[in-house]
Amino acid sequence: MPLVRIKELPQHIGERVTVNGWLYNKRSSGKLQFPIIRDGSGYLQCVVFRKDVSEETWKAVEDVTQESTVRVTGTVRAEQRAPGGVELGVESFEVLAPAAEYPITPKEHGTAFLMDLRHLWLRSSKQHAILRIRNELEKAIRDFFYDRDFVLIDSPILTANAAEGTSTLFETDYFGQKAYLSQSGQLYLEPAAAAFGRVYCFGPTFRAEKSKTRRHLMEFWMIEPEVAFLEFDGLQDLAEEFIEYVVGRALERCQEELKTLEREVSKLENVKRPFPRITYRDAIELLATKGMSVKFGDDFGGDEETVIANSFDRPVMISRYPTAIKAFYMQPDPKDPSVVLGLDMIAPEGYGEIIGGSQRIHDHDLLLQRIKQHNLPVEAFQWYLDIRKYGTFPHSGFGMGLERVVAWVSGVPHLRETIPYPRMLNRIYP
Ligand code: 4AD
Ligand code: MG
Repeated sequence: MPLVRIKELPQHIGERVTVNGWLYNKRSSGKLQFPIIRDGSGYLQCVVFRKDVSEETWKAVEDVTQESTVRVTGTVRAEQRAPGGVELGVESFEVLAPAAEYPITPKEHGTAFLMDLRHLWLRSSKQHAILRIRNELEKAIRDFFYDRDFVLIDSPILTANAAEGTSTLFETDYFGQKAYLSQSGQLYLEPAAAAFGRVYCFGPTFRAEKSKTRRHLMEFWMIEPEVAFLEFDGLQDLAEEFIEYVVGRALERCQEELKTLEREVSKLENVKRPFPRITYRDAIELLATKGMSVKFGDDFGGDEETVIANSFDRPVMISRYPTAIKAFYMQPDPKDPSVVLGLDMIAPEGYGEIIGGSQRIHDHDLLLQRIKQHNLPVEAFQWYLDIRKYGTFPHSGFGMGLERVVAWVSGVPHLRETIPYPRMLNRIYP
């Protein structure tokens, strides 16, 4: 009997097949029982007709508990009302491993309870849909850069220096020397841009964020392109082309998942270039009209970002932030050195900052001065300064937080559901 994955059953209508999976749910009405099986690729409604099966099979279906491992054999039939458009007329139903009483039931559970059971929660339909969207976005990201001739440069996770400020570093011991978990691959990508022209990295990054928010994880995945000779306007073009592409891929290939999540897709269909571009100063004025007073030099918090985002129907790019609130490596605006050529892209619907990026300082002496102003140890950055010594060149890049984009595309409010095993404040289990 051919063993078929549920997803492929529509190509086997009229055939006898076997499916391996787990019992998702079941209902019955007198002479009929309808166990629903899942195998990770989809859900299958099985139809067990009392007079078609042995007493043993009938009993096995009656007794089977949620999440037991099962093997079912029968004939595939078209059935428009069933999930996936097919059902299975059952001949035999074997319980390979009965499951103990399953703690996650269709009723509502509290989040702390579900987070403790994250290893099981992954099986639930909503979590499954979110992580499938994550999978599609990861592939879209790689395709986007591969198709544009970017070289993937894997940056190290153990690093000797800070990239994004010293307050969120995870410190560890490296044979008696202090080391940190990487906050960003950027500093390693800039030298690689001199070697390959266009590069990107995509990996886990770590930030010891001391506050509890729905937008922060301690471990998150970041995609960071870095391009030689790309200046600030080109960087904004790249960021919007990229976001339009990845959202488009989810719309094209994750229709089922978006339906499961009841995502309002028209909001995502709006994500078309050009995106609005405003400056930090424009944003302050916009906030003032909404009754929020922000002074030049203040950073925007989640509330401000949401108010700005709600003024637009697609992501908005905010540029030219005050030098004092941005990272040491950002290039000053030649027209106004009190601000930098840095950008944040804010997602619609309150999902916050999805991209942060900038043109980089390429003048050696200015960069050295900034490293000192930020009280960073010059020796640890000698290699980074070297790039400005051996054939310096203007260059730019950005970082996109994968989980923020998965949350936005999926329409889930909290980042904890967008990564298989979230690392949050005071939580490292499971
Ligand atoms: O704005 P950030 O800190 O920028 C950088 O790290 C630059 N070095 C990137 C670069 O230019 N190559 O972080 C970039 C993005 C943010 O816009 C946000 O989407 C995400 O990373 N991010 C987080 N996501 C989840 N949890 C956290 N704690 C995050 N911190 C940043
Ligand atoms: Mg940022």
